[in-house]
Amino acid sequence: MKTITTANSALAVSATDRFRPAFHYTAERNWLNDPNGLVYLNGTYHLFYQHNPFGPDWGNMSWGHATSRDLLHWEEQPVAIPCDGQEAIFSGSAVFDEHNTTGFGTPANPPLVAIYTSAYSDGSPLAGRQAQSLAYSLDEGSTWTKYQGNPVLDRASADFRDPKVFWYDGDAGGYWVMVAVEAVQRQVVLYKSADLKSWEHLSTFGPANATGGVWECPDLFELPVDGNPQDTQWVLIVNINPGGIAGGSAGQYFLGQFDGATFRSGTTVTEGLQQDDGRMREYGWLDWGRDYYAAVSFSNVPDGRRIMIGWMNNWDYARETPTGAWRSAMSLPREVSLTRADGKVRLRQEAVDPFPESQPGGFRLGPRALAAGVLELPAHAAVARIDAEFEPGTAESVGLMVRAGAGERTIIRYDLARGQLGLDRRESGHVGFHEAFPSVETVAVPLQDGRLRLRIYLDRCSVEVFAQDGLATVTDLVFPAGAATAMAVFAEGEGAHLVSLDVVGL
Ligand code: FRU
Repeated sequence: MKTITTANSALAVSATDRFRPAFHYTAERNWLNDPNGLVYLNGTYHLFYQHNPFGPDWGNMSWGHATSRDLLHWEEQPVAIPCDGQEAIFSGSAVFDEHNTTGFGTPANPPLVAIYTSAYSDGSPLAGRQAQSLAYSLDEGSTWTKYQGNPVLDRASADFRDPKVFWYDGDAGGYWVMVAVEAVQRQVVLYKSADLKSWEHLSTFGPANATGGVWECPDLFELPVDGNPQDTQWVLIVNINPGGIAGGSAGQYFLGQFDGATFRSGTTVTEGLQQDDGRMREYGWLDWGRDYYAAVSFSNVPDGRRIMIGWMNNWDYARETPTGAWRSAMSLPREVSLTRADGKVRLRQEAVDPFPESQPGGFRLGPRALAAGVLELPAHAAVARIDAEFEPGTAESVGLMVRAGAGERTIIRYDLARGQLGLDRRESGHVGFHEAFPSVETVAVPLQDGRLRLRIYLDRCSVEVFAQDGLATVTDLVFPAGAATAMAVFAEGEGAHLVSLDVVGL
């Protein structure tokens, strides 16, 4: 689905290129990590990202760039902000400076402004520091100029990074707000500015909840609960590495209120400080798998839609994943919303769907009893959307096997006694490249009216599971054999029903 072709693309096809995703963004060549500068402008979504233009491993950090009109078909653009002898360009955000508050553009042609972390190299007088800098574009993101007055915010810190900026409209007028991290201190620091150039400290949040690793890539935005504009909450995203719920990298979130200066969380678990497993499961997690990190949201999207993208990888093993000339993919974009369920406000996530409803050639099973055992499906796919609804009844477990064959399988299993959904990739194919890779991720998922609804996106090296219409998600990489395309549904114990199963492939 990638529309770009380059003179090098023939070279890029190697034995391991069978892992190249069909509907997840990858750079044509070389390394990528965090999504950066997610911004919408005039019909185009811009995805900038941490990128090494010179090799398939982390280094030479620069902002790569891709554009899309539908969040699914991406076209790679030239590197937007390259590193140089003075600085690496670490993560950050981008805003449309509509009223030209920076003066970088004109009222008739206001700028796009990138706010990024300058990670100063040995060649710089600021070597060893991280501070926040600006670059701007007057041609809708095609070319970028660094601001002469960089850095614009320097705390003389070695771990001050990942600025996310948004426009805040308060009773007393509007201003820019930046959330960034003091990563090692596990703190989110908030600043305000009228022009993105001079910044005033507002407040500091944290440490709180999960603190077993550095805090990185924060985000802060307001969402209505069940679509009601009179009933809103603010969502503070804090990515953490390591110390995530499934091990290694993950994204946690806090719900609360932001008054223009201070974020106050209603979901901070304050009693007891130990990070035991039970306590970790009380926190809000964006995803319960191992491969959804550095997730942040787009700015300037019309109609108040809040769309996030995560880096589909984990720092535990990101540099060893067995792909070819490219390394790492982005998650599917997810629209996030808030809903009240069981008296609690919960985050709901829905992927931007690469499979139009009208797609022909699908496979469907209607309602039926599921006897104990494995029911192989006559459908095969490495790239598909699967919708399954189970009524587990008195069974011990129900679930699906995907990417099965050649002695491999990835298992999505609901355990009735525990009320837990699991994603098991221990036998999913190539798992030996890192000891942390063979894993089982679990998340508590209450049945709704006795039913479990799953939407699963399979791509060539990933499984993304959305349970109960996106109230819980689990994302994991898998590296199966090319021939491992079989699927099955199963039950352990008697009494389960399959309500429906739909498979759509590419
Ligand atoms: C998160 C991160 C950021 C940093 C960037 C460097 O994955 O460590 O904190 O800005 O990656 O590539």
